[in-house]
Amino acid sequence: MTYAKSAQFYDYFDTKGNAAFYVQIAGESEGDILELGVGTGRVLFELAKLGRDSVGIDNSPEMLREAKRKRRNQFPELAGRTRFILGDMLTLDLGRTFGFVCAPSGGIQGESADDIRGIFRRAAEHLSPGGIFAFDIMSPCALRQTKVYAPERKEVPGGRVVVRFIAQTYNEGDEAASLDLLFKEHIPGRTRYETYKEECTVAIITLPAVREALEYAGLKFDKVLGDFEGGDFTDQSPRMVVVARRPL
Ligand SMILES: C[S@@+](CC[C@H](N)C(=O)[O-])C[C@H]1O[C@@H](n2cnc3c(N)ncnc32)[C@H](O)[C@@H]1O
Repeated sequence: MTYAKSAQFYDYFDTKGNAAFYVQIAGESEGDILELGVGTGRVLFELAKLGRDSVGIDNSPEMLREAKRKRRNQFPELAGRTRFILGDMLTLDLGRTFGFVCAPSGGIQGESADDIRGIFRRAAEHLSPGGIFAFDIMSPCALRQTKVYAPERKEVPGGRVVVRFIAQTYNEGDEAASLDLLFKEHIPGRTRYETYKEECTVAIITLPAVREALEYAGLKFDKVLGDFEGGDFTDQSPRMVVVARRPL
């Protein structure tokens, strides 16, 4: 998904509740922080509050524009400690390492499940020895469904009201789900509303595939959770939360 039209609404529909988890895991590491697929900086600003230099990369200029706008308006005190870079996590080469690398909220989950091998390699290359790599993705059971999510309505600044509709279609042949998102924006004083459409395909990534890709990248699997509160990962878990390490 490009987020070209919906980056402006991203934070209003944040129900992920995973920032505290990443802050806690980052606390088990030392040194600078790198977030792959940083988006609007939702998680990175919380990580930077730990007092550590924090870099976020993303391939969506619109998401990065939101991140920089938030830094200017909400977190000016973090300006010296946060850096946002336009880039692709599959080809990333910053020429330096970090103590903690993370990819919250499915940033690593694209159209092809094979991409995780390359992404994990890039993560490993950017990790200091003993550094921690953590990410979360939608689990296979959450994606192997065709369904329409309940619409969500949010009031956003300027008196605007935005309603988000999401339809998910599971494609068994491709082991992927396509997501169609529609945002309807009601603007005060206008009878018409604006609509913004986004779509993406999300590949199903199994736990054995994650473990194999981590090994390929030279990372040591540490643990898998089914939620951000420390619950076990089972076949019914909607998310897969993984922590790995670069060996010393
Ligand atoms: C669901 S958002 C998560 C944003 C943020 N990590 C959070 O938790 O709020 C996924 C982000 O990953 C970015 N992304 C997807 N594929 C990418 C790639 N190959 N390289 C860099 N960024 C990517 C998207 O542009 C988007 O901002």
